[in-house]
Amino acid sequence: MQITAVFERILERIESAEILDKPSDILAAAVEKAVPKGKVRDLASGTPIGHPLHPALVAVPIGSWTAATYLDFTFGDKRAARRLVGFGILSALPSALTGANDWTTTAGAERRVGFVHAVLNDVALTLYAGSWLARQRGHHLRGVGLSLAGASVLGGAGWLGGHLAYALGVGVDTTAFQQFPDEWTDVGPESAVPAEQGVEGDADGVRVFLTRYDGHIVALSDRCTHRGGPLHEGSVSDGCVTCPWHESVFAVTDGSVVRGPATRPQPVAEVRVVDGRVHVRRSSTRTLRTNPIGH
Ligand code: FES
Repeated sequence: MQITAVFERILERIESAEILDKPSDILAAAVEKAVPKGKVRDLASGTPIGHPLHPALVAVPIGSWTAATYLDFTFGDKRAARRLVGFGILSALPSALTGANDWTTTAGAERRVGFVHAVLNDVALTLYAGSWLARQRGHHLRGVGLSLAGASVLGGAGWLGGHLAYALGVGVDTTAFQQFPDEWTDVGPESAVPAEQGVEGDADGVRVFLTRYDGHIVALSDRCTHRGGPLHEGSVSDGCVTCPWHESVFAVTDGSVVRGPATRPQPVAEVRVVDGRVHVRRSSTRTLRTNPIGH
């Protein structure tokens, strides 16, 4: 069997392992309790920087542990290697917290893969803690061995993390490959668009969220950039729409994120009304997005 097929089989097993759902739910409830909603959760999600924070933070422990391994294999300074292992352990904590926070908003296969990813990272962290202790007590070789074991487990965890992001799209703006039509497109009668409430439209296959604000009709992508929640099922007030899934809040005029866990703004469409019909088209503010796209 080809190595790729082996990897795929492992992934399929994890993605469909319903046995992981119960411990995942218990852990997710504990994380949600530990990370208060509002500024703390927004920070952990990466809302202020416009991207998930977790991928940026993981570079620190991985870099520290890799540097320690380099010193181990080049007969470098043992004390520096021990310190690097210790720094990696400390920096793994915020990394784990932000990852766990992101993971609470996943479901199904993503949640199962994320659970195994977290368990493997915890095992790796324990091995590195053992490595630090062994080095501290003068058992250098044992410390090196434990570090190598930790690196192996960490590699498995990283592979699953890659699968989460690049195959399952966790953390990716769910509208990344979506684009409103370039031409004005009829999405329904003006009279059907309410104020203080949203309604769904269809712009040539792209779902549009429509509402009224300050006397005008405004249009955003209906698919929440966070995990794809349907904005038209959310609540609208004070010029903002709240996603029904994880309560991200977006300004209806420009799609900006008012509250996370979303990190990316909602795409906005230009709107015009002709003979009582609402037309939308791609906004010029998104002209940089030229990826091949779909609906
Ligand atoms: S899907 Fe998570 S906040 Fe919208």
